[in-house]
Amino acid sequence: MNAAVNKVSSHYDEVADSYDYRYDANFGKFYYNDISRHVMERFPKDGRLLDLGCGTGLFVRHYVNEGGVAVGIDISRGMIGKASDKCASSDFTIGTAEVLPFCDGSFDAVSSLLSFSYLNQPEKALAETFRVLRPGSPIAVCTLGRNLFTRGLPALYHISEAMNLKKACFGAFGERYYSVEEMEQLFYGAGFIDVRVKRCSFAHYNLARPIYVLAKKIEPFVERNIPYLAYNICASGRKPYDNEIELL
Ligand SMILES: C[S@@+](CC[C@H](N)C(=O)[O-])C[C@H]1O[C@@H](n2cnc3c(N)ncnc32)[C@H](O)[C@@H]1O
Repeated sequence: MNAAVNKVSSHYDEVADSYDYRYDANFGKFYYNDISRHVMERFPKDGRLLDLGCGTGLFVRHYVNEGGVAVGIDISRGMIGKASDKCASSDFTIGTAEVLPFCDGSFDAVSSLLSFSYLNQPEKALAETFRVLRPGSPIAVCTLGRNLFTRGLPALYHISEAMNLKKACFGAFGERYYSVEEMEQLFYGAGFIDVRVKRCSFAHYNLARPIYVLAKKIEPFVERNIPYLAYNICASGRKPYDNEIELL
């Protein structure tokens, strides 16, 4: 692992015990359910799923509860430990999404929630995803997108780290926030078809209660009419069948 990847995995090792308070309780749970719903829309319910950057297994649990079988991979040993405790019937592997230790065509769906922005080599992760998917099978990714609010965050993280303000802000992990066009390019570039990219979520779980309640109310309006303000970007596509590749 290189230094940047080590920094991310050490961070998640440290927060593994408290991570689920973010997304499995209070507003965080609503926020996470929304993202899961957007991802789940593209998936067969009874397939074999691979979850990239699976963390503590929240989406693996969701998929298994819907009737499927799921496998997770993550660079953080601490997060994988929590995922194994949570989803005893699923398999988890410590490793990077950029080098997948799985056979060609061995999955019916590949997901990645809130992890894609950490990848140093997203093209490599998508090429690996393409390889491990069965022909015709979908990929769906949901991660923080680049918008009015997030575009300054990487610089803010760098400055706060340089000024040793770690308590006030997250560390700088080299995260990349993508636009709709960039996601489309990455997905088409990897060979996926039926590519769809949309922005979602305006009510961020970190907001104070009254602002959250208001943001939640206007979320559908924002997603439909001013999607650039939504925080997350959900991209999906599918691996073509062999006869479709010939036609491309
Ligand atoms: C914000 S958490 C999201 C976890 C989980 N997907 C969820 O929805 O709760 C980001 C996760 O991505 C993992 N991660 C970051 N870079 C990765 C990489 N290159 N390969 C695999 N996992 C990675 C981190 O270790 C962390 O568990």
